[in-house]
Amino acid sequence: MHKIGVLTSGGDAPGMNAAIRAVVRKAIFHGLQVAGIKRGFQGLIQGDIIDMDLGSVGDIIHRGGTMLFTARSDEFRTEQGREKAFQQVQEHGIDGLIVIGGDGSFRGAKLLSDMGVPTIGIPGTIDNDIPCTEFTIGFDTAINTVIDLVDKIRDTATSHERTYVIEVMGRNAGDIALVAGVSVGAESILIPEEKYDMIKVVEKLKRGAARGKKHSIILVAEGAGKGFAIGEVIRELTGWETRVTVLGHIQRGGSPSAFDRMLASKMGAYAVDLLKAGERAKMVGTMGGQLQATDITEALATPRKPDLTLYHLADALSI
Ligand code: F6P
Repeated sequence: MHKIGVLTSGGDAPGMNAAIRAVVRKAIFHGLQVAGIKRGFQGLIQGDIIDMDLGSVGDIIHRGGTMLFTARSDEFRTEQGREKAFQQVQEHGIDGLIVIGGDGSFRGAKLLSDMGVPTIGIPGTIDNDIPCTEFTIGFDTAINTVIDLVDKIRDTATSHERTYVIEVMGRNAGDIALVAGVSVGAESILIPEEKYDMIKVVEKLKRGAARGKKHSIILVAEGAGKGFAIGEVIRELTGWETRVTVLGHIQRGGSPSAFDRMLASKMGAYAVDLLKAGERAKMVGTMGGQLQATDITEALATPRKPDLTLYHLADALSI
């Protein structure tokens, strides 16, 4: 192996830059050359590829986003698109590829691997929705952003004695809502993985109010329902002043936390080691804090379960 490529794909996540830095530096440490592929698989198809050296990843470990840019590529979903990508890999002499992204990116990585390009995936998404790893890069920063924002909303919720519905990201996974919800002491947490009944949610809010509670926070993952619709139901069933805040893409930005910088640095370096050792079609993860490699096919076929003990804990602590 002489030259490896690295790209970021799908939604960006804080810590992706730290992962790119680790990949580039560890590869150069091993005497390999590194090609940076811009705008994910789309950039690969278009040959948007740059040479990277030690300096090109200087001053990025603390920055959110991804210096390589990211994209979602419809063209790569077609056979012709993948053929063009494969030709670019060959023309640039890339012997192995590291893909930093979510499950869609891993599917792309597997397809390229099947075409003969050794590929390793690094989980980078704020959603934490990848199986076979405890954490994805960006999740820790995102939950800390959410906690900070919800704490601020709580100040005004208390002052005005209002009920707040706060919608957080998580199209298919409730991890952000769950972890942030427990951490801010939310009265209710609504996630896509668990059915909920608005009548029961409101009964609980009313019990709290009868006990003298002055305000309530309901955290809803976007995949579990629209914040504005849930706010409307609460308003109708209670007659209370209810406000809705959708946190949106602010959750994807910001300087990565210490945890995400560490995770990204470890995963990036490990991915290079795996490629160098001749591995392919693997994804990097951590279990019990230890790095591990899992077959991408196995990872994609593994059902992903959120930590429901947190869901029940939140319920018990917010009676
Ligand atoms: O990064 C994952 C995620 O944040 C999802 O939770 C969300 O639904 C999606 O990305 C939105 O991304 P975009 O607006 O870039 O399509």
